[in-house]
Amino acid sequence: MKKDLLKLLDLSREDITLILNTADQLKYETKHNIHRDYLKGKTLAMIFEKNSTRTRVSFETGMYQLGGHALFLSGKESQIGRGEPIEDTARVLERYCDGIMIRTFGQEEVENLARYTRIPVINGLTDFCHPCQVLADLLTIREHKAVLEGLKLCYIGDGNNMANSLIVGGLKMGMEVSVACPEGYEPDPQVLEFAGSGPAFRFSLLRAPEEAAAGADVLVTDVWASMGQEEERAVRAKAFAGYQINEELLALANRGCMVQHCLPAHRGEEITAGVFEAHAGEIFDEAENRLHAQKAVMYLLMRGGTA
Ligand code: CP
Ligand code: NVA
Repeated sequence: MKKDLLKLLDLSREDITLILNTADQLKYETKHNIHRDYLKGKTLAMIFEKNSTRTRVSFETGMYQLGGHALFLSGKESQIGRGEPIEDTARVLERYCDGIMIRTFGQEEVENLARYTRIPVINGLTDFCHPCQVLADLLTIREHKAVLEGLKLCYIGDGNNMANSLIVGGLKMGMEVSVACPEGYEPDPQVLEFAGSGPAFRFSLLRAPEEAAAGADVLVTDVWASMGQEEERAVRAKAFAGYQINEELLALANRGCMVQHCLPAHRGEEITAGVFEAHAGEIFDEAENRLHAQKAVMYLLMRGGTA
């Protein structure tokens, strides 16, 4: 494992498997009331320049369950909001803390933060990717389907941070990945280049949701307008009409197809209320698994010399 978790492109298949196996173990311990202070005395600084419910609560709770402590730094209220360079914040935080989780806009900000600090940096979402979420998704799919390799994962909607991480995570774990998005809303070129470097049958970028969803084992979607794109909502609502996980689309997938959504969800836009509620068990398992997957990441990156 590298020092940081900045994007899934940086991880090998073995790294991802190690994270998922560690998450299984930590989840088992938590469910059986086995409490071990793996990160006793350690502190995680959490920088948020965007809103969050799941990421904040799961990281903070996760640190507490591992015997450590997490502190919340709002982008606006800290000196970051007044323009203090990320390079300086990086070097200050390493004098107090043992790890940094950051949710922000530009991927380069996270990469820069990691470059300027000796402590691990974990990406809690950027415009480019959402690695912690997709680790939780892979954990959930593996729990429900027992394997990842050979399954077909289909993503419908915006080629955003979720699409980018799902493509990379799915392909690295031996899944077949299909994506349907409208013209002009494709995934990141760096991700498409990675996807194109593998066997052609393993990845398809399509326009028609029906074509992408055919024979899928997992259907995934995300909001049409991400954080920071609030002003584009109306334009996007038009562009994405038809890019919805609904009963008709689900009927084209394999029997027993799972539905995943990172949340928050907009019923009636990217997913119907009916599909959401019919698959709520899987979707809230996915939300719960943020906790277990991130505990595994923190355990693997932040333990240092401790037992
Ligand atoms: N899925 C996710 O990252 O949720 P939050 O924005 O609530 O953290
Ligand atoms: N694509 C969404 C994910 C939220 C968890 C966003 O960036 O707002």
